[in-house]
Amino acid sequence: MIKIQVPATSANLGAGFDSLGLAVNLYNYVSMEESDQVEISTTDGSVVPTGKDNLIYTAAEHLYQMCGKPLSGLRIVQENNIPMTPGLGSSSACIIGGLYGANILLGSPFNTDELVDIAAKIEGHPDNTTPALLGGIVTAVASDDRVLWVKQEVYRHLNFYAIVPDFELSTALARKALPETVSHQDARYNLSRAALFSASLLQGKYENIREAVNDRLHQPFRMKLIAHADEVFEKCYRYGSYGTYISGAGPTIMSIVGMENKTFEPRMRRYLDKHGLEQWKIYKLSIDNQGACVKL
Ligand code: HSE
Repeated sequence: MIKIQVPATSANLGAGFDSLGLAVNLYNYVSMEESDQVEISTTDGSVVPTGKDNLIYTAAEHLYQMCGKPLSGLRIVQENNIPMTPGLGSSSACIIGGLYGANILLGSPFNTDELVDIAAKIEGHPDNTTPALLGGIVTAVASDDRVLWVKQEVYRHLNFYAIVPDFELSTALARKALPETVSHQDARYNLSRAALFSASLLQGKYENIREAVNDRLHQPFRMKLIAHADEVFEKCYRYGSYGTYISGAGPTIMSIVGMENKTFEPRMRRYLDKHGLEQWKIYKLSIDNQGACVKL
């Protein structure tokens, strides 16, 4: 069996709606081999679809079909560490795990650019699947049938604290909450901040990040769907965050904090526990620069 490691991802990064994303060091593992039937299990007790509707299987089968190679089944073993609460790219990790694994089983007929394109088509937008495949911080733009992308590795002393609520928010609902049109002024507001974000992160200009994560395309509408988000943002900044944003479509909140700040997590934990949010989880993460790979 081959075993694939796929990182969690955080999309949008504030103003880069549907185009910016980064990979973090929390991993799902997908072991896979060809079989006469579909056999899907997990090692972590999580409940996943065990038929052909399993997202890893669907993605893998798609690649076999593109190659014209019949597939009678796959044996898949999943180890899911990425929370399934939306916001950390758990479905993108399944898509990339399925595609990456199937590509190896097929003898690697598809190159990286092609896998980026296929994954984005399955997911519908490229800002989670592309960093899950490539690692680092990624700018990914869907243009006609292709994704144009740039991956940059990040070597900065930063932690990314994923603050994960105990409730679900479906991506479909979070997308439905967005307005159909925005003003020229709001478009300008966002594109300037999206451009500021990557450059500031890469050059260590952390004082820019708080402004760079502001946006007017999605967060103001989604904040209303995430109970307590306002207070959590406020606390993140009070405890020293450089920038805090809704990760992907939410409800996960991501806060960027310097590694030297040792008090952020205990203070945030205390705040959550004291305000009835004991079930919310905090994951202390950092950038993954490698992306999907074979786990030896
Ligand atoms: N860019 C997408 C959104 C990410 O915000 O809806 C969701 O996975």
